[in-house]
Amino acid sequence: MEKNQLDTLIQKATLAYKNAYAPYSKFNVGSAILDENNNIHLGCNVENAAYPSGSCAEEQAIGNMIVNGGRLIKDIVVVGKSDFLVTPCGACRQRIREFCNKDTLIHICHSTKGHQKSFKLDELLTYSFGPENL
Ligand code: THU
Repeated sequence: MEKNQLDTLIQKATLAYKNAYAPYSKFNVGSAILDENNNIHLGCNVENAAYPSGSCAEEQAIGNMIVNGGRLIKDIVVVGKSDFLVTPCGACRQRIREFCNKDTLIHICHSTKGHQKSFKLDELLTYSFGPENL
């Protein structure tokens, strides 16, 4: 994707990051997906007093893509604030797997420092199980 397109996606994911509801972990995460129609879908983590009922930013972004008719993640940005890369959790790697292809890029970004590193799904989830395996 072009640099200015990635910048837009990062900007939107950063807005989602700012709106995250994470009073328990105090670890905000925002996400933005570019789908096959070049539509953008946002998500943030939404925690809950009953901790396991909380959800991840990527999960919300994927749900928003699906409800709006998108079916392919071309690019997904994840924004967090950590000394380490805020890479998707295991469950979210699997969720991304369902709707990505071999060209999909997962862009890991810092809320203030910006883009850090981009991955293919295969690097994060090797020998993965997906729709073709059924
Ligand atoms: N979190 C995400 O939203 N995405 C990830 O891939 C990693 C973790 C959220 C879940 C929880 O609200 C907080 O970050 C701390 O784990």
